[in-house]
Amino acid sequence: VESTPTVRTVTGTDIESYIPKVAQLRIRVFREFPYLYDGDRAYEERYLRKYSASSRGVLVLAEVDDEIVGASTALPLRDADDEFVQPFVEAGIAVDGVFYLGESVLEPHYRGLGIGHRFFDEREGRAADFGFAVTAFCAVVRPADHPLRPESYRPHDGFWSKRGYERRPDLVTRYAWRDLGDERETGKAMVFWIRKNAA
Ligand SMILES: CC(C)(COP(=O)(O)OP(=O)(O)OC[C@H]1O[C@@H](n2cnc3c(N)ncnc32)[C@H](O)[C@@H]1OP(=O)(O)O)[C@@H](O)C(=O)NCCC(=O)NCCS
Repeated sequence: VESTPTVRTVTGTDIESYIPKVAQLRIRVFREFPYLYDGDRAYEERYLRKYSASSRGVLVLAEVDDEIVGASTALPLRDADDEFVQPFVEAGIAVDGVFYLGESVLEPHYRGLGIGHRFFDEREGRAADFGFAVTAFCAVVRPADHPLRPESYRPHDGFWSKRGYERRPDLVTRYAWRDLGDERETGKAMVFWIRKNAA
């Protein structure tokens, strides 16, 4: 690899101008297993607006020569979609103490250089600055024998555990998108991983 991407973070309404580029990147990367997302523009707008609409919405950008090659998002759980809030309400966990981490997407060419770690560092740092006690994200659950699972697929569980996240099978939700080859959106099970922010 000729150059390591540079990483910077934008917040709130400053996120807005990056939405089209980040949408394109999400659509490209999330075609991969286990997401298998057949991306569409309207869905992306609706989803990504949540981050620019929140004053504490966070977008971390990885760039090479002014080109966006990676992105990662976060916002207060309170400002996230209801599907993500509900499991915490039901479990009696204080929603206002949780900073929700959205996705991390990176062009395959730039993987393995530590950018994934930088994405967590940046988002956890903002969570701490904003005074959140907990960071949390959720991951789609696909069957281990899924026909579209590549031979070489490596789950991220080890990475996430090492980052201090605990898988919480008691905190699950369903979130809908259209899978590749499908006619319409279907709900998927997503399980949460959570971590207490170092004080
Ligand atoms: C997730 C993603 C952003 C990670 O980016 P990255 O820059 O390659 O990650 P890093 O180089 O910081 O490595 C992070 C850890 O991932 C692990 N890892 C490396 N290659 C991996 C692979 N192919 N599959 C799974 N884990 C891998 C390593 O163990 C590494 O941890 P370590 O340095 O403590 O050993 C990138 O792989 C990606 O875009 N994947 C597709 C989308 C996705 O799955 N996003 C995550 C959920 S939204």
